[in-house]
Amino acid sequence: MSRVAYVNGRYGPKADAAVHIEDRGYQFADAVYEVWGVSDGRLMDYEGHMARLERSLDALHITRPMSRAALTHVLRETVRRNRVRDGLVYLQISRGTAARDHAFPSADVPPSVVVTAKSVDRAKQEAGAARGISVVTRPDIRWGRCDIKTVGLLPNILAKQDAIEAGAADAWLVDDMGTITEGTASNAWIVDQDGVIRTRDTQANILHGITRAAILTIAAEQGLKLEERGFTPDEVKRAREAFYTNASGFATPVVAIDRVAIGNGKPGPVAQRLRELYLQRAEQAAI
Ligand code: PDD
Repeated sequence: MSRVAYVNGRYGPKADAAVHIEDRGYQFADAVYEVWGVSDGRLMDYEGHMARLERSLDALHITRPMSRAALTHVLRETVRRNRVRDGLVYLQISRGTAARDHAFPSADVPPSVVVTAKSVDRAKQEAGAARGISVVTRPDIRWGRCDIKTVGLLPNILAKQDAIEAGAADAWLVDDMGTITEGTASNAWIVDQDGVIRTRDTQANILHGITRAAILTIAAEQGLKLEERGFTPDEVKRAREAFYTNASGFATPVVAIDRVAIGNGKPGPVAQRLRELYLQRAEQAAI
């Protein structure tokens, strides 16, 4: 549990932490966020997440609230104050607080910055990954700029809840062409019938996952067959394996989709190997 939160320059008890009711993140989802995995107290894939944060801020014309070095200090300090060894650190930056008006407030309104951190039981997480998860497919009703890591996550939340009520752990979202875009908070992958590792290309309407990029590098280093090409739910059903990637789940096997077992219905060797390699690499590369 996160006990200490950083809010606009102050560290304090999370239970009392609050932003203003006219914060534009709260009123308009006019905000961006990032999530870093924390391994051994250090930030995993630091550079990729930081660069994407800056891209998301720039895309929405939200002013950078402080220098990279200062922000990194806040992230680390929040991790430290919460005594997180393995876990996650969450950062949200909104356009700030101003009287409600759809138009941007004046440039002197400072962005709001919130940071929390929480521990994750790594042994429990590994046990979960060893079982794999099931997903269901749902239409992708999200907006057209899913490459920006905005907090406008209502469609994602609806699909996730729907998946849980359908007895699955997550939903994989399907676009108008019948192709899977991504999970509600993760990128989607298969190892297809020919043994090719496939994930959708990033020109499409998906978040450019930092874990996705790392896994692509690792798979290429291993000489595995790779293709950035989308796939349909039917192709997932015929695939040897499926898995998802994100900062909180690394690479996690998906063993069923729409109640149909994928491969032999158990976590596949490629996904398990990529998970191990990602974690090894993360231990070396985290800052
Ligand atoms: N979500 N796609 C979506 C829609 C996401 O929300 C995420 C991450 C990803 C994977 O990105 P990355 O590998 O950089 O974590 C893909 C975070 C973990 C979250 O919302 O908690």
